[in-house]
Amino acid sequence: MSRFWSAVVHGLTPYVPGEQPRLPNLIKLNTNENPYGPSPRVLEALRAEIGDSLRLYPDPISERLRQAIALRHEVTAANVFVGNGSDEVLAHTFQALLKHDAPVLFPDITYSFYPVYCRLYGIRYREVALTGSFEIDIDDYLQANGGIIFPNPNAPTARLLAQTEIERLLQGSAGSVVVVDEAYVNFGGVSVVPLVSRYPNLLVTHTLSKSRSLAGLRVGYAIGHPVLIEALNRVKDSFNSYPLNRFAQAGAVAAMEDQAYFEDTWHRVVESRQRLVTGLQKLAFDVVPSTANFVFVRHPRYTGAELAAQLRGRGIVVRNFQNPARIASYLRITVGTDAQCEALIGALNEILNGSVASSPSSALS
Ligand SMILES: Cc1ncc(COP(=O)(O)O)c(C=O)c1O
Repeated sequence: MSRFWSAVVHGLTPYVPGEQPRLPNLIKLNTNENPYGPSPRVLEALRAEIGDSLRLYPDPISERLRQAIALRHEVTAANVFVGNGSDEVLAHTFQALLKHDAPVLFPDITYSFYPVYCRLYGIRYREVALTGSFEIDIDDYLQANGGIIFPNPNAPTARLLAQTEIERLLQGSAGSVVVVDEAYVNFGGVSVVPLVSRYPNLLVTHTLSKSRSLAGLRVGYAIGHPVLIEALNRVKDSFNSYPLNRFAQAGAVAAMEDQAYFEDTWHRVVESRQRLVTGLQKLAFDVVPSTANFVFVRHPRYTGAELAAQLRGRGIVVRNFQNPARIASYLRITVGTDAQCEALIGALNEILNGSVASSPSSALS
């Protein structure tokens, strides 16, 4: 606390990002990054950006990138807004579209950045409880609201909400903006981007951090009706005209264009997820059905904190949330390569059964 701080700063409880430990040989399964590197075409595009042109500002409206995203999603560039990670896109969305008299609604268990933005921008919000099996029940959202936002699949539960249900919500809440945060949709989920042409109140956000292996580049985007996009641009140009530097724009264009690499890596992650789920179930874990690049699990005999600490002692980092209390017993585990998943299963077997699995891969098969 300091008398130099603006009043709003005293009331902030900032988001705490997952740890980025700098330990050698660590198996890092705590922040839902892709275990595979970016497309070689991305690396080539980044190298090509090194040169004299760095003295010039980048394109403030990221025209090429917005065109590449539009092409991929069969919309127009006027439907696309890009930002420095989808976190920035979401921050602008809260300020531009979700600040009204009625509270914005989001699940009680969800991406914990949402309430942080609300406190930053002075937005009223109401948390809507997920069902006992961690599902979003659309009927609970059909109440007065200043906007609705949820990830699909949800984080950290990994559960997917059916497109028909989202459409029911869009119809039942036509007077306010519905934001579907599709950070994890590209691991077997169904995107609602095609609904944008029919619902002017729908905004869909995506990130290149997960399925396109570019968490380090910081690129995210939103797709919606041009009127919604204009609101985002007004906020962006009142904040930072150049949120995406030359590397981010060039690398992201290459990533959006290399569809074959994208398809190959997300399929590999989904196959590993299936093997990981089977391995965890063999060890008696309760696994919430996942359509994401992570799984949400608990063990009947151990607390989440205990397991996370024991895994860390074995060089494997996963995430455990102590809040809300309802999920404190769970671990959120990013799907790694098969070798990383095998190491995880081997370590869990050792922790739970006090023995080293004779062949870790046999627990996974
Ligand atoms: C649900 C959800 N939305 C958005 C993000 C932000 O992603 P980024 O800022 O890397 O694009 C995350 C990151 O983990 C997330 O879990």
